[in-house]
Amino acid sequence: MVSDTDFFKRKKGLSHLVEDTLQGLSPIQTIMKMAEPSNIKKMGVNPDTMISFGGGWCNHFAPEPLRKIYTELCKDKQSFHDSGRYSAIIGNESCRRQLANLERNIYGMNHISEKNIALGQSSTQLFHDVLRVIANPGDDICVLDPTYANYANAVKIALPSSTLRFISALDASSWEYLKNPQRSLDELQEFAEQGAKALVLPVPDNPTSQIPPDSFLKGAADIMQDHHGFLILDFAYKSLWFDKKPSCFHWSPEDMPHLIGIHSHSKWLSSLGRRLGWIEASQSVINGLEKINESMLLSPDTLHSMAIAQFLETSLENGFAHEYVKNIRQLYKKTATVLTASIETYLDWPYLEPMGGLYTVCPTPNKVDPVSFVKNLLMQTGTLIIPGVGFGPSMNHGVRLSYGPLVYNHDLIVEGIKRISSY
Ligand SMILES: Cc1ncc(COP(=O)(O)O)c(C=O)c1O
Repeated sequence: MVSDTDFFKRKKGLSHLVEDTLQGLSPIQTIMKMAEPSNIKKMGVNPDTMISFGGGWCNHFAPEPLRKIYTELCKDKQSFHDSGRYSAIIGNESCRRQLANLERNIYGMNHISEKNIALGQSSTQLFHDVLRVIANPGDDICVLDPTYANYANAVKIALPSSTLRFISALDASSWEYLKNPQRSLDELQEFAEQGAKALVLPVPDNPTSQIPPDSFLKGAADIMQDHHGFLILDFAYKSLWFDKKPSCFHWSPEDMPHLIGIHSHSKWLSSLGRRLGWIEASQSVINGLEKINESMLLSPDTLHSMAIAQFLETSLENGFAHEYVKNIRQLYKKTATVLTASIETYLDWPYLEPMGGLYTVCPTPNKVDPVSFVKNLLMQTGTLIIPGVGFGPSMNHGVRLSYGPLVYNHDLIVEGIKRISSY
């Protein structure tokens, strides 16, 4: 008998990917571990009285009609039996058709059908698989600086030997976003000329909650098209735009084959744990994804697909979905205002005005190291914010504050910011 420790003590017992490339805690692991109740307690903080601006999640209730559909699906013997079957590799056709309807009805996308849609386990899984469809190991992938912290490891895992190339967006000195859009496009152009295969960005963004101007996104799409690459828009927060609807919300992959949209029900339906995501892309990309997903996934979740298909069918028809999206947009916008007003009143830190989504970002006072700042802040005030390290170089002296978990607790936002001001 060889013990687990003895077996793995041999150096390089596992793959180079795990032993070398992914060594150390990833930014996402750091964020998740920091927020674990055991860690909070270890730091002498009572988790019950802690105020957290840490979580990257939505906390509004999922729509009641959706909950009732799940109840009915589980109550009915035949429906429950049907939900236990595999669906097609690219997912339940009725769900894919209804998602195309969602795009048409809520976002005004005209040229989209179920043929442009593949379902998957989540945007996280689908991002990995889309990279495998469009790029070869070694092809570079561009992101804005800063960007969603999970992209870095996803690229390392999907495309060994590829490099993540940062395009300037947040100016760490003036704390302005895309201050000089043309300069950022020029940087993209240079990477594209050197062979970069894609630009990936969330709209609205995590961590900045910014939405780049239409002209910037169009310019980026043109550059990627000219260089036979792709513009990948991560629409995890699509339903949470606050003011003018961005044009890219209705761009269709039927008209722009170099455009790929990554979507998820995690945020808009408050369904982070009910894992179901989807891709909108040209039929060639969807066919490629079907090949990869056959081995990665075999079949996306059928129960969630059935529930979502029924929910969309009725709620797009009777107007509930429009009302629901309007309400959550208002709720998150109001919550963002409570946070930014509190920052102005009690902290006087620079911040980015959210244009959608769940977050804002601020520089650390006197440019101190954000990791020790966040730890000390947590221990002394019982308030959790997220260090910016891992989102990109511009956030090396920055922090992210999320208001998503506090949409029903505006008082806690004010109280939390007051606590930070006492630090
Ligand atoms: C920009 C962005 N994309 C994707 C995800 C993950 O989405 P999913 O739950 O579908 O994996 C997140 C989660 O925070 C995110 O912020």
